[in-house]
Amino acid sequence: MKQQNELLPDKAFEVRQTADGSQTLYSDRVQEHYHSTFGALQESRHIFIQAGLLEAHRRKTSGLQAAGNNQTAATALTTEATQATRTTQVAGKTKSAEATQVAGTARSSNLPLKVFELGLGTGLNALLTMLEAGNLQLNLSYDCIEAYPLSPDLVQALNFPALFSEQDQKKAAAVLDFIHATEWNVRHTDPASHTRFTKFRGDFTSFEPTERYDLVYWDAFSPEKQAEMWTEELFASMYEHMETGGILVSYCAKGEIRRRLQRAGFGVERLQGPPGKREIIRAVKL
Ligand SMILES: C[S@@+](CC[C@H](N)C(=O)[O-])C[C@H]1O[C@@H](n2cnc3c(N)ncnc32)[C@H](O)[C@@H]1O
Repeated sequence: MKQQNELLPDKAFEVRQTADGSQTLYSDRVQEHYHSTFGALQESRHIFIQAGLLEAHRRKTSGLQAAGNNQTAATALTTEATQATRTTQVAGKTKSAEATQVAGTARSSNLPLKVFELGLGTGLNALLTMLEAGNLQLNLSYDCIEAYPLSPDLVQALNFPALFSEQDQKKAAAVLDFIHATEWNVRHTDPASHTRFTKFRGDFTSFEPTERYDLVYWDAFSPEKQAEMWTEELFASMYEHMETGGILVSYCAKGEIRRRLQRAGFGVERLQGPPGKREIIRAVKL
């Protein structure tokens, strides 16, 4: 297994086409792709947007309704991800997702939805999130960390704006440029979308968040390649920096990873994965 200090800044990359026509990077050093070879765009949309952002938005919206009506019952809008077959497992206890949802709901309407991404990488998750937040008219705060930033040439070679319809390409290019061109470790606000955005440059294993997040994208390289990013201690530390009812989504649904999340305090759901991946996980801060 690769140790943290062996993950030096990656120099050797290949741009590779995935099955849905979108491109990803293959890191020779880590010997892993940045996204699923079955479809980078498809994977990112399915896990981080549908199971993550839309669900977090649903919870927030439901909470507002509940708070506004002085009721505790949350109204469920259905998303593709929540329709998927799922199992909720909690170490030593069982709690329904709806009950958890209600617990974390009393938020005021103009508070931002606070997202944290582990591993900004190509910026695909950030790009899709900012565009979707714009469509939903969400007040978004997006923080992320990256230890090994990619060169602008590599980002450009991936040609993500071409994935969008002609009328959206200009916007996608501008958002992607905002994501990659902004200075590290400084809070920025995009004047067009009012998105708050901070890129932390550093090693996540020694990162101390100052926010409490509603939504976490756990998008490290796999446990086989980067075991140190999937420890119970890191999950427990992230748990402390999340809102009650907040969710963490990841492509890795391995049993041992689910058990570590449960021991860290999360309720863990298995959801149907994107093509090529049987299951993904969504963990909820109870
Ligand atoms: C699987 S890729 C994630 C891809 C990314 N989310 C995207 O949409 O392109 C994992 C990312 O985590 C970054 N990473 C690896 N070790 C890290 C560490 N210790 N701290 C922060 N980021 C790290 C890698 O450089 C890489 O960008």
